[in-house]
Amino acid sequence: MHEFKYKKNKFYCENVPLELLAEEFKTPLYVYSHKTLVDHFRKIKLAFSEFKPLICYSVKSNANLNILRILIREGAGLDVVSGGELYKALKAQVKPSKIVFASVGKTDEEIREALKADILFFNVESVPELENINRIAKKFKKKANVAIRVNPDVDAKTHEYITTSKKENKFGIDLKVAKEIFSSTDKYEYLNLNGIHLHIGSQITTAKPYKDALKKIITFIKANKIRLDYINLGGGLGIIYDDEKPQTAESFAKAIAPLLRKIKARLILEPGRFIVGNSGALVAKVLYVKDAPTKTFVITDTAMNDLMRPALYKAFHAIVLLEKSKSYFKKLVDIVGPVCETGDFLGKSRKFHKVKSGGFLVVLGAGAYGFSMSSNYNARPRAAEVLVKGNKYYLIRKRETYQDLIATDVKVKGI
Ligand SMILES: Cc1ncc(COP(=O)(O)O)c(C=O)c1O
Repeated sequence: MHEFKYKKNKFYCENVPLELLAEEFKTPLYVYSHKTLVDHFRKIKLAFSEFKPLICYSVKSNANLNILRILIREGAGLDVVSGGELYKALKAQVKPSKIVFASVGKTDEEIREALKADILFFNVESVPELENINRIAKKFKKKANVAIRVNPDVDAKTHEYITTSKKENKFGIDLKVAKEIFSSTDKYEYLNLNGIHLHIGSQITTAKPYKDALKKIITFIKANKIRLDYINLGGGLGIIYDDEKPQTAESFAKAIAPLLRKIKARLILEPGRFIVGNSGALVAKVLYVKDAPTKTFVITDTAMNDLMRPALYKAFHAIVLLEKSKSYFKKLVDIVGPVCETGDFLGKSRKFHKVKSGGFLVVLGAGAYGFSMSSNYNARPRAAEVLVKGNKYYLIRKRETYQDLIATDVKVKGI
């Protein structure tokens, strides 16, 4: 459930018509619903309440400081994957003891920053990384908490680019190697090897792959008599973009609870998409309608640099007009942006309502991996972001300017 819907003929976010925001803040414009955001966080919290988990919202899905602050106020910790995300997490004033740090390639600098900040633990993905954190922690004369990210070789049955736990993926440590690590903890004097981390993929719609992974982990823990303080299940809960019927947080929790009860350790979850995905939408303005021989192209001012998911994963997002219309274009419609790539589309081969130049449309389910994946490709300033709360709305990120586009270019004389 989310708070984006038609009221009579106009499309609203909570109690604010999106057209009003599009006119005031211009387009492309990301709009977020405060209520949807908070509701989704609370749904997970409630579903897993038996385990009193630390829910570390995955910053990569949407890293706006205001979004982070709202979730922190709800009790969230944060899952970060870079020095930049750690910086933002600390700026948002999350307690460092609620930060977990993943990533297959943490630099020395990032490891030092995390040790300095005193985060809860590192999710570690290789033996060389383990040795490196041990070496750096020694200099800090500190013991770092470490969860070994294991790769249980399960198929999450999602898009191949967001499948992360098959043995051919770069993520995690094979169980055989993990066994060697846990049986040689003495080698890592400056590490507390006290956690196991899993993140099997993203946009997962059933509990089955989680259950498969958890069963393997339980067997592994028992066989090797491993004592854990933390079991980190990662993120990955799927949402509705099209006609998916993903499990609810409640049914997901119910399905895996019997397995979780067998692991005596604090539960950590790292959801991103589930919390913020349906909390955000991207408003675009129609520039031209081009009638081509086989299709109609609705050309908007919003492109793959603003929302990368269709180009990257051929992801489907529902797209609707801000002003309801009853008539349809005769031909199938591609809704595209102005970027010089054939892969630049928001929607492809849709039966789509008639719209004219100057009309507005909105791409739904754009809150996760929307703005956070956006770029300046084709020298396009990144979009503004607005948060709606009831009747009120707030600019939470300014639109970039042309000056921003050149702010870090260095003018070198004589070349
Ligand atoms: C380690 C880790 N945790 C959590 C997440 C969040 O995943 P999702 O947004 O699907 O919940 C990701 C996403 O890539 C991840 O890599």
